[in-house]
Amino acid sequence: MIRIRGLKKWFDSRRGRVEALRGIDLEVAEKEFCVLLGPSGCGKTTTLRCVAGLEKPDAGELEIAGTIANSPTRRIYVPTEKRDIGMVFQSYAIWPHMNVFQNVAFPLIRGRKQIAKDLVAEKVRHALRLVQLDGLEDRPATDLSGGQQQRVAMARAMVTEPKILLMDEPLSNLDARLREQMRVELKKITKAVGVTTLYVTHDQAEALSLGDKVCVMYNGEILQTAPPHEVYAKPNSLFVAQFVGEMNFIKGHVTGPSQVECPLGTLPIPVPLGVSVASSVTLAVRPEHVKLNCADGLLDSLSGAITSKNYLGDAQILEVNINGLSLLVKLPGDSEFSIGQKAGVMIPLDRWHVYP
Ligand SMILES: Nc1ncnc2c1ncn2[C@@H]1O[C@H](COP(=O)(O)OP(=O)(O)OP(=O)(O)O)[C@@H](O)[C@H]1O
Ligand SMILES: [Mg+2]
Repeated sequence: MIRIRGLKKWFDSRRGRVEALRGIDLEVAEKEFCVLLGPSGCGKTTTLRCVAGLEKPDAGELEIAGTIANSPTRRIYVPTEKRDIGMVFQSYAIWPHMNVFQNVAFPLIRGRKQIAKDLVAEKVRHALRLVQLDGLEDRPATDLSGGQQQRVAMARAMVTEPKILLMDEPLSNLDARLREQMRVELKKITKAVGVTTLYVTHDQAEALSLGDKVCVMYNGEILQTAPPHEVYAKPNSLFVAQFVGEMNFIKGHVTGPSQVECPLGTLPIPVPLGVSVASSVTLAVRPEHVKLNCADGLLDSLSGAITSKNYLGDAQILEVNINGLSLLVKLPGDSEFSIGQKAGVMIPLDRWHVYP
């Protein structure tokens, strides 16, 4: 539905050139929910604006629903209003002087699809039902809560039944609880409508929970594109490992074809292709994959002392010191370990990640 090939975009300013996109490749299938995840300034909004036609790329091609929408070499540029997209941004930009109905009806009345009056009312009602705001048609937009305003913005984006929905951090103005509720709602709504969605966020939890597919971006490039569970279980680079979820990192060096030496000892684990003996590597393991035993110094395990404990209710994060090396361990909330206690530490070999 959306196909992006070698997309580049730079901005020239007095302070020189900023390469916002350095060659983005991405395909979003019909009805797929694709999330662009990355830190501030990595190019998420720029990518979205290129898809929307609000920004003209400097190189590469962009195809929407089988039609070339941008191609600098072929001098093709399809304007925003002809792209059949709906957009929701961080600032909902709903009109304060209009009521809910008028806000949602706006794209139908002013947009390119001229529509009969009674049909407008029907479509607006349908869109408001979808976001569970039916009955609030006459409410002034200013008399709505943050979450309700956000729903109005969503209804407005979807009232024209666009093929593609673009969303740029639409939940970031909401408080934590509402954000989680809206996350679930948002997924339901987009699946119910079957709209192809490209969604931007810097919040990894949001990306993992919403995306059918997650693209982790850094410095104008996509580093990894995969389903959420794969991004979490098999981060393909050190950056992705650092950015998505919690990780323990340990420096080590390669001492054999499948052997890494680190402060925890010599580990028989495979190293990435192209990493030769004597190279330095970074080992990574998630806190929930580190196991603790109350018995100190069990055979085949390391021994450490618990130095801190962060109780979270359903879980707890312990810090364990092993020969001066500190590891985070995530355990169920009801596990009984206390600060100062000695414990056996076990890390299954297949839970280690190795990065050059
Ligand atoms: N109009 C512009 N003029 C100059 N530089 C720009 C412009 N728009 C974006 N940039 C630069 O391009 C890079 C990518 O910006 P972009 O807005 O796409 O990042 P982002 O990933 O959306 O970040 P954030 O999470 O902070 O919204 C940044 O370095 C930014 O400063
Ligand atoms: Mg942005």
